[in-house]
Amino acid sequence: MNDKALVAHHAAHYVKDGMCVGLGTGSTANYFITELARRHRDEGLQVTVVASSVVSTIKAQQLGLPLVAIEHLNRLDLYVDGADEFSPDLSLLKGRGADLVREKLLAQACKQFLVLVDSSKFVSRIGERFAIPIEVMPFAWQLVKQKLKAMGATGGLRQNASGDGLIVTSHGSLVLDMVFDSQLTSQTLNELLNNTAGVVEHGIFYGLSSAVFCAVDGEVQEQWAHESI
Ligand code: A5P
Repeated sequence: MNDKALVAHHAAHYVKDGMCVGLGTGSTANYFITELARRHRDEGLQVTVVASSVVSTIKAQQLGLPLVAIEHLNRLDLYVDGADEFSPDLSLLKGRGADLVREKLLAQACKQFLVLVDSSKFVSRIGERFAIPIEVMPFAWQLVKQKLKAMGATGGLRQNASGDGLIVTSHGSLVLDMVFDSQLTSQTLNELLNNTAGVVEHGIFYGLSSAVFCAVDGEVQEQWAHESI
């Protein structure tokens, strides 16, 4: 079993009968969805699920998991998702897949947020390896970019893979990928972006993780937020 599958199976043990579970997006989250569906089918585990993206919705549907639409959600017991980076204080960078709003909604709404990573995702500060994805209203992108540039950030609109068009999120936003001064902490960046008009959502998940499960040399290490903050 590879590291992503290992942490995903580990997290699936945290799901109990009757829970409503948020499904993340990405290759690690896919392993979790598959294992959850197996437990539902083979062990009779009673769950309802809500997905953080269109692709995860389709996967859950195909595997027979009982889905509830995010619009109808009134409680969420657990949210399980991957991340692009995690730092010692369990801050995360997410959103390379560009469905930021739903991911952060679920991360804020849940009672517990379990983050699934391998050690390649570890960084000493958020933004070390990737630009910060910032989802913006289409008419706001220039002004948001100018404001962030004035603070020393560099970057621009995310392009599609062939470079002949722009990435548009599932509900019509554009995405700025911005690199900030390395002195800025995830807490500061979180506040800055939360306070910038025209920003729909951004990829810094500060103070939201309940635990990070990290696969190291074939074993899962659990780090719980109350141990580190
Ligand atoms: C999706 O937008 C991201 O936040 C993912 O959680 C992230 O890209 C992790 O993907 P992998 O599990 O494929 O590494």
